[in-house]
Amino acid sequence: MRPYVIINAAMTVDGKIDTSRRQGAAISSEEDKRRALELRAGVDAVMVGGNTLNNENPKLTVKLPELAKQRRSAGLPENPAKVGFTTRLTLDPDGDFMTTGPARRILFTTPATPPQTVDVFRQAGAEIFVHHPPRVDLGQALGTLYELGIRKAILEGGATIISEFTRLGLADELQVYVAPRLFGGETAPTLVGGDGWPASGAIPLKLEAVQVLDPAGGLLIRYRFSK
Ligand SMILES: NC(=O)c1ccc[n+]([C@@H]2O[C@H](COP(=O)([O-])OP(=O)(O)OC[C@H]3O[C@@H](n4cnc5c(N)ncnc54)[C@H](OP(=O)(O)O)[C@@H]3O)[C@@H](O)[C@H]2O)c1
Repeated sequence: MRPYVIINAAMTVDGKIDTSRRQGAAISSEEDKRRALELRAGVDAVMVGGNTLNNENPKLTVKLPELAKQRRSAGLPENPAKVGFTTRLTLDPDGDFMTTGPARRILFTTPATPPQTVDVFRQAGAEIFVHHPPRVDLGQALGTLYELGIRKAILEGGATIISEFTRLGLADELQVYVAPRLFGGETAPTLVGGDGWPASGAIPLKLEAVQVLDPAGGLLIRYRFSK
């Protein structure tokens, strides 16, 4: 068993989820930021890949007091659990992922993370699962999350982890905000990274809804992964 997984991301019309500088460029409009926070408020966990985790140290909280209040009134923790998948954990333990909350923090890694680092994060309150090398087994990790009570989760990127979830058939839904802008750049990450597939292996999606989300012309497109 695994949680229901929604991939949520923001991209430019040319499919870039960041510029080639890879410093977490802002893409979402104010309307999309609000939508993404509401989406977070409705799930049990928010998940990110290793580069996004280690390099950007994201907060991954619901941020808005009214959303935190809504969750509390529904008997839920103020924030969904924060989850990271990283071969080697190089995250700053004093940064936002660990300290902004309150939130349950769950990390999946491999023995490439030194045991002393694992201890530091455990002592700081993170739940850490060490998988066999070379990489975190994402199917097994989702099984663990299910056992921990997580039934619905969002994957917020980046490109490599989205590619792996897609390739392994671990995602149920895709919500993508398309900003009416172009970043260009061959090395800028696109929505789905990794090595890609031959056209014959393209992953089919079923359109659920298209919505113009903001006055500038940003679109929200929702797809379901066809089984
Ligand atoms: N616009 C958006 O919505 C959005 C959202 C989030 C991030 N981003 C952008 O995305 C970019 C980061 O994307 P990214 O592709 O570089 O990195 P990523 O997808 O965030 O993280 C990928 C890393 O996760 C680790 N990992 C652990 N287990 C894995 C597994 N089983 N399979 C694959 N990877 C696994 C790998 O580390 P090892 O290589 O060490 O194995 C891999 O390099 C940044 O520029 C960020 O700003 C954009």
